[in-house]
Amino acid sequence: MTAASDSDYTPAYTLDNTWEAARERLETLEVSCDPFTASHLDKVGVAPGWHCLEVGAGAGSVARMLCERVGPDGRVVAVDLEPTLLADLSLPNLEVRRLDVVVDELPEAAFDLIHTRLVLVHIPQRNELIPKLVRSLRPGGVLLLEECDLTKAMTADDGVFRPSFEAMYRPVLEAGLDIYWAPTMPGLVEAAGLVDIVELRELHTFTGGSPLAEFWRITYRQFLETQPYTDAERAIMEEGAAAIARPGGQYVSWEWITVWGRRP
Ligand SMILES: C[S@@+](CC[C@H](N)C(=O)[O-])C[C@H]1O[C@@H](n2cnc3c(N)ncnc32)[C@H](O)[C@@H]1O
Repeated sequence: MTAASDSDYTPAYTLDNTWEAARERLETLEVSCDPFTASHLDKVGVAPGWHCLEVGAGAGSVARMLCERVGPDGRVVAVDLEPTLLADLSLPNLEVRRLDVVVDELPEAAFDLIHTRLVLVHIPQRNELIPKLVRSLRPGGVLLLEECDLTKAMTADDGVFRPSFEAMYRPVLEAGLDIYWAPTMPGLVEAAGLVDIVELRELHTFTGGSPLAEFWRITYRQFLETQPYTDAERAIMEEGAAAIARPGGQYVSWEWITVWGRRP
């Protein structure tokens, strides 16, 4: 895998892993989502000896799970635009690399599994990335995508949370995040040549004060510190963050869309 340089290109990702509470933020996401990912890895049948690529590995819990599953004869390559949170992971079958999946090269026909979780929705070049990821699979290899669709969250009638969500996403949608893209994944992986395609949809709801509430509360904080909001948007977001910090209440986070398919 080699790093390319393109002077006209700037990564679109807005939630830098070097931010002071980035680890805390991603670890609350891991606590909330790892059980779903583990069940998807079981369904795909990730097995000892597999070579896996974890794209946008974040704080590394999925890379760790993969290392356990593939065992000493397998190998996991965990890549991220900003791999700083992966530095402490010291596993004999893990390799960590700084890599931008948009512009850097991936090896051809190299992996039994390529996985992304909440990565492609952030990347404007997401449609073109699917064939690139498919080319990096060995024949028989599996592309497993776990991304979110926020259609239900954006139409939920839950008092202050939905309006605060709308305010939070306004500048980020302009930067290229697409919170409605995930349902197009089955068609895209089929067009890229995958077969035996499976799609699962799971609605993730949360109560105030839960790990997923904490994930959103910290995400609000990071966006408030880094994005250009109006005073009115800031006030709405602060109200929403305060609401989900209080125990109780029932909120829609996202519909979790999991799609996998096999390269013939
Ligand atoms: C929302 S986080 C999800 C982290 C992890 N996949 C998880 O679910 O716990 C998105 C991750 O993708 C990484 N990322 C964003 N754009 C990327 C790119 N172009 N190439 C590689 N990684 C990228 C970010 O740095 C971040 O670690």
